[in-house]
Amino acid sequence: STRMTDAHERSFIMVKPDGVQRGLVGEIIKRFEQRGFKLVAMKMVTPQRALLEQHYEEHKGKKFFDPLLSYIGSGPVVAMVWEGLNVVSVGRKMLGATDPAKSEPGTIRGDYAIVTGRNIAHGSDSDKSAKREIDLWFRADELANWTNFSSKRRR
Ligand code: TYD
Ligand code: MG
Repeated sequence: STRMTDAHERSFIMVKPDGVQRGLVGEIIKRFEQRGFKLVAMKMVTPQRALLEQHYEEHKGKKFFDPLLSYIGSGPVVAMVWEGLNVVSVGRKMLGATDPAKSEPGTIRGDYAIVTGRNIAHGSDSDKSAKREIDLWFRADELANWTNFSSKRRR
């Protein structure tokens, strides 16, 4: 559903290799859990170049494309799907601006990063991107179907 009140909206969130190496996986998961979002898929993988070319296809031809693919492909990432009301836009707010110099303190990038080329985590930028990215990174049977009884998720 594309309604504004879609409690089952999903976003693709990824801890990048620098986030993994710096021990920030738990911190990032904790922030999404505590906000009230529901984790529906998670895996650690070292992504192949072909996958990253598709994931970042909008940036193909830009000067940062090759360094970006080398960086993201350099080590394991933690790929996740989070679900909940407005998770795409709220997730982007929680991440902070792409350039950590412009990210507000209190955001993930604003608290833990200083340069765009090592900005710790990725989040889908729209519902359309989220669907595309989730399809790219996960098979349908890797998405868990479970009920979260937390009162935070109730309307
Ligand atoms: P982008 O999709 O613009 O940002 P976001 O991750 O916030 O959606 O860019 C994708 C990634 O590419 C970004 O997280 C870091 C890298 N990047 C650079 O290294 N240099 C740049 O100038 C830009 C715009 C992005
Ligand atoms: Mg982007």
